[in-house]
Amino acid sequence: MIIIKIQDYSEMSRKAAQIIAAQVKAKPDSVLGLATGSTPVGTYQELIRYYEEDGLSFHKVTTVNLDEYYGLAPSHEQSYHRFMQETLFDHIDILPENTNIPDGLASDPYSYGKEYDKLIVSLGGIDLQLLGIGSNGHIAFNEPGRFFSAQTRLVDLNQHTIEDNARFFGSKDEVPHQAITMGMKSILGAKRILILASGAGKAKAVKDMVEGQIAPMVPASILQLHSDVTLIADQPALSLLS
Ligand code: F6R
Repeated sequence: MIIIKIQDYSEMSRKAAQIIAAQVKAKPDSVLGLATGSTPVGTYQELIRYYEEDGLSFHKVTTVNLDEYYGLAPSHEQSYHRFMQETLFDHIDILPENTNIPDGLASDPYSYGKEYDKLIVSLGGIDLQLLGIGSNGHIAFNEPGRFFSAQTRLVDLNQHTIEDNARFFGSKDEVPHQAITMGMKSILGAKRILILASGAGKAKAVKDMVEGQIAPMVPASILQLHSDVTLIADQPALSLLS
């Protein structure tokens, strides 16, 4: 794992966008794996700047998102569909038919998850996967548990995640308790992985991911098995590393 230490959230966002922009320039029809949450917002703003000021085109890019809350329609204010639309897709020249986000209303999530993984394979796999990390060590919504799960599937969010994400909703009670998340097989199948972490709240998860045992109680620790992972993190997020 390559660790790039940066000053703060802004520098993290600039650096991450630089790496993603270079990927798209080198391969205009790249398949980008995208994340939601607070972490990538600045990166998406920088990518919009690349589009507006530097002529970077996303016309041939395909995207696949990591997850969606189960039960939320795409139009719901807190859905990840809406997040992606408002934070990135509405502001660049990506074709709507080339964007993929798990369907939070899938009536048969088991079959749906299998189809989502097949779709990723049919696209030739993910060229560059952008990840954030949960303060409990989750990646996508692969929560700490007794085993790593390969497949895209319906999961129960753990209490920690519900509390962390309550800030986006009116209250904790409004946070959905389930989500459809990409599984470890598709994430680890990405050719390159870029994971971002900012702030002291991520320090323990970052330490366990980088230095801990590869264990399903720290889902991000599985990234130690991937040969091309870059972590961009600020000092507070790196503060517990030995
Ligand atoms: C989002 C996702 C999650 C977040 C993680 C960190 O699509 O898959 O794993 O990356 O929960 O969230 P933030 O960035 O809000 O701290």
